[in-house]
Amino acid sequence: FQRKKDRAYKIYSLVRDYYRFLLTSEAGAGAIQYLEQRQLSDVARNTFEIGFAPPGWDNLTKLLLAKGVSGQEMAQLGLVHAKESGGFYDRFRNRIMFPIWDHQGRVVGFGGRTLGEDTPKYLNSPEGEFFNKGQLLYGLHIARKGIREQGYAVIMEGYMDVVSTFQQGVTNAVASLGTAFTREQGKLLMTYTHNIVIAYDADAAGSKAALRAAEILQELGAQVSVATIWGAKDPDEFIQAQGLAGWQQLMAKAQPLVQFKLAQAIKKHGIQNSAAKERVLQEVLPNLAAVASPIEREDAIKHTATVLQVNWETVVEAIRIFKKNTS
Ligand code: CTP
Ligand code: MN
Ligand code: MN
Ligand code: MN
Ligand code: MN
Repeated sequence: FQRKKDRAYKIYSLVRDYYRFLLTSEAGAGAIQYLEQRQLSDVARNTFEIGFAPPGWDNLTKLLLAKGVSGQEMAQLGLVHAKESGGFYDRFRNRIMFPIWDHQGRVVGFGGRTLGEDTPKYLNSPEGEFFNKGQLLYGLHIARKGIREQGYAVIMEGYMDVVSTFQQGVTNAVASLGTAFTREQGKLLMTYTHNIVIAYDADAAGSKAALRAAEILQELGAQVSVATIWGAKDPDEFIQAQGLAGWQQLMAKAQPLVQFKLAQAIKKHGIQNSAAKERVLQEVLPNLAAVASPIEREDAIKHTATVLQVNWETVVEAIRIFKKNTS
């Protein structure tokens, strides 16, 4: 059984090497051009092992057949599809290829991005025995060192964000591969650090997902803050515009979960009268009650009271009632 797994890792590594080779071959000229246009340097290409899957239906299929891998096996590994007429064809065609690793740095799948605007923009390996999006964090084995040095980790949505910010000096970031952050991902990250900043995209989906991720992490006992990207769509575009100094300011301004949620609730309800304030308070109560550290909780209570222009005793009383009603 273990042998079967080791063989799978070997095949994925071989495929990664093949795509990397193709990127620097004649076939990869357009892909290189695309990467350059997106300011991805060779540092990123080498550290993140980015490659290129050429157009054509059977480039990989042929290579692997020649190496003694059966079509069945390739299909099981999510690298090819079976044709109805018999035979197999490549899953990834004409895409920039991002290997995806587990936390030990073993390749367990791929993400492929189109060079243009065709859809789907990203095509990942299918979920399966090796590739489980909800159980891995993109770039974790690379970010481990940066997380240790800086004492915290950043979670982003996409591989582009991680690669692009890495080459500008942000070495402590991982990607959840979309916005559906899971408890498993939280637990995995928390074996490295309990200090976490979420830096999802600046759109509505991103802030909603950031809140959900932050709640999961808080429940697991992390100290979690949310960064609000401004003037750009996502960390990639932000750092291209603002540089590392801008990024560091963004991190310094990241809001603890309660503060972030309070700001969101105020956007929704306003604070123009008691009824609005009550609605805002009700939204943040579960989060206030969940803050594990007494000092952090006091800070959050004071902040909430100040923003709502009420006495802090009022907030404490509301938390007490909330806890009584939910226990
Ligand atoms: N994603 C995906 N499938 C999609 C869209 C997104 O798997 N159809 C995942 C990918 O992991 C992607 C992440 O969600 O990296 C973030 O998506 P998005 O913000 O759309 O992508 P960007 O990384 O910003 O892509 P780009 O800048 O290349 O347009
Ligand atoms: Mn721990
Ligand atoms: Mn997005
Ligand atoms: Mn982007
Ligand atoms: Mn994005």
